[in-house]
Amino acid sequence: MHKTITLLSMSCIFLFACERSEISDTPPLISDTKAASQTHSVTAETIIRADSSGWLSHGRTYSEQRHSPLKEINTETVAELGLFWSFDLGTSRGIEATPIVHNGIMYVTSTWNIVHALDARTGKQLWRFDPVVDKEQASKGCCDAVNRGVAIWGDAVFTATIDGRLISLNAQTGQKNWDINTIDKFYPYTITGAPRVVKGKVIIGNGGAELGVRGYISAYDAMTGEQVWRFFTVPGNPADGFENETMEMAAKTWTGEYWAAGGGGTAWDSMAYDPELDLLYIGVGNGTPWNQAIRSPDGGDNLFLSSIVAVRPDTGEYVWHYQTTPGETWDYTATQHMILADLKLAGETRKVIMQAPKNGFFYVIDRETGAFISAKNFVPVTWATHIDQTTGRPVETEGARYVGETPALQLPGPLGAHNWHPMSYSPDTGLVYIPAQEAPHVYAEQTDYKRTNGFWNTGTELSAAALPTDKATFKALKAMVKGRLLAWDPVTQKPAWSFEHGGPWNGGVLSTSGNLVFQGTADAHFAAYDALTGKRKWRFYTQTGVVAAPITYQIDGEQFIAIASGWGGSYVLSGGGVFPTGSKANVGRVMVFKLGAKATLPELPDDNFILPDTPKLLDVSEEVLAKGNRAYDNNCLVCHGFQAYSSGLIPNLRYSAITNSEQAWNSVVVGGGLAEQGMPNFGKIIDDDTAEAIRAYVISEANSVRGQEFYQAIEN
Ligand code: HEC
Repeated sequence: MHKTITLLSMSCIFLFACERSEISDTPPLISDTKAASQTHSVTAETIIRADSSGWLSHGRTYSEQRHSPLKEINTETVAELGLFWSFDLGTSRGIEATPIVHNGIMYVTSTWNIVHALDARTGKQLWRFDPVVDKEQASKGCCDAVNRGVAIWGDAVFTATIDGRLISLNAQTGQKNWDINTIDKFYPYTITGAPRVVKGKVIIGNGGAELGVRGYISAYDAMTGEQVWRFFTVPGNPADGFENETMEMAAKTWTGEYWAAGGGGTAWDSMAYDPELDLLYIGVGNGTPWNQAIRSPDGGDNLFLSSIVAVRPDTGEYVWHYQTTPGETWDYTATQHMILADLKLAGETRKVIMQAPKNGFFYVIDRETGAFISAKNFVPVTWATHIDQTTGRPVETEGARYVGETPALQLPGPLGAHNWHPMSYSPDTGLVYIPAQEAPHVYAEQTDYKRTNGFWNTGTELSAAALPTDKATFKALKAMVKGRLLAWDPVTQKPAWSFEHGGPWNGGVLSTSGNLVFQGTADAHFAAYDALTGKRKWRFYTQTGVVAAPITYQIDGEQFIAIASGWGGSYVLSGGGVFPTGSKANVGRVMVFKLGAKATLPELPDDNFILPDTPKLLDVSEEVLAKGNRAYDNNCLVCHGFQAYSSGLIPNLRYSAITNSEQAWNSVVVGGGLAEQGMPNFGKIIDDDTAEAIRAYVISEANSVRGQEFYQAIEN
């Protein structure tokens, strides 16, 4: 089922045959595209000019608006939109990449950081680069072996890998220019984000705050790969001395031995740049552990967790910050997409930065000074009533900081009211289009928390989130879980329209001057909506769920729309089996559309998975089962899903024959037998008794009525 049965035999394109056999590890020189020349080198001016023939930066422009002026495809013509070509990425794991298009070449990343260069017009593969990542390091990732794309500058393409490297490639040939390490491998740092290039410096952060790291973001010289600066997002141990005055200032907002677990605050995704103000904006993540009562026992704001921070791109020097969730304790990152725009507010044009972070509020902040302008919740939230207009701080509800409280359902949960999936801002309509969701969570403190380096350290009881076993409660919970495309007016802080999807975790957004908004969905469709009314104008079945964001570009006067499919990411791993998407076998692929095209996707391969016999129940006590259940929830759930019912991206333990053998089970779980495939080695933190208790629990789940049939019954 999870096995990458896959697709190796399939030709990747139907209009232009592209057999796997053509793909070699030594990249061929490109003969049939225009030769590299200085005029095609990407500079700051090229990105700022944002010529719509390409898609030159992660958010299209430094302002990250993800809006294109192209309008050949518009509300009148979109009915004629059809598939032109598709390219199979050869993976069944999540695809989160935004392709970059320049000079007729599309650069897109796949699982395990493989970079593909494709002819943007035909889909023909030009070269392929495999950085051969250390998958054992990757098993320290919180949220699937995903990557959000490359950056381009000069004549080079930059890619950052899940094992912490930053690599420069020749954009024409895929040959490596340089390859450097950006992390201390002792700590569980991983990179999933796309680099940005500002003033000849490649900027990249990292992730790992679930497990325990000290966040930072660094700039490297684009030519040489030499580090130019590093900005830490949280203070280190004062005994080691502070790196600068900013860290000294930040340390005053922390208490206790906050540095012990690293503090967190990883900058794993969003950035934006204002060339006029010469400010680089960084979105900063949650704390380690999540639970602030453990992390910083006497409270404090804990700068710069959950903040937008403005720094100088030449030096990394701090300029200002705005903190969305002071003293964060819910995994409310502010790493979500940030958009720069000039808004007319109370008769005055203001340079603003906008963000819809996980905490459920939409923020409009002055991007020159960091001054708070306005905020309003864009989904129902339970942790705060509102953001105080004078202080710019949230007014929290009683009991929201769950320590000492009876565990209760709260909104949003750690998956956020909006996660990494990019939004867009249309200067034509003045609206921000948000892939919004309602995904509640039961927060509960972990009273016997003990830090374990290299593994999840939240200080919360993930078990408290276990799903109800009776149908009625499950149905009620499921009804609370929602997802929508939300058009938000940032001036009035009110919704303009919304389009309700079947569930959460839908794709990123693109808007165009064709008065259209494009988005892929969890239920395996790619659709276009009227940007003013939200009416769906066009839809295409993608076979596989979409989480990535679309782009658009133009070659010889013809407009193309591109999107990558590939269902995956944290929500899918933890809950995907419970909330199925309607998505068939998980095929990661790039699809390109244009007016009048009529290609079709290849037939899906037969899913010839044979269900193994249900494993025999182990003769253990209720206590052992409960112990196994809790150990499972706190160590395995994040990847193998609630109640051992996984999405199928990685093995569904309910249907794993390995559960039948204690020896085989232990060799994987505590022996590191599959570490190189991304399955962590729990040998250091789980003893044999606990491993056996987990096995007993998983077997009981495999035998339980809460199996696939249960969820299917609810579906129907
Ligand atoms: C970081 C994500 C992650 C976590 C956490 C995780 N696993 Fe895995 N696990 C994987 C992946 C990925 C594979 C598949 C490796 C492969 O491709 O063979 C896997 C495979 C397995 C397998 C082999 C199943 C089969 O049929 O091949 C077992 C058993 C297993 N995991 C048990 C556990 C247990 C028990 C825990 C918790 C103690 C756990 N895993 C936690 C990612 C994870």
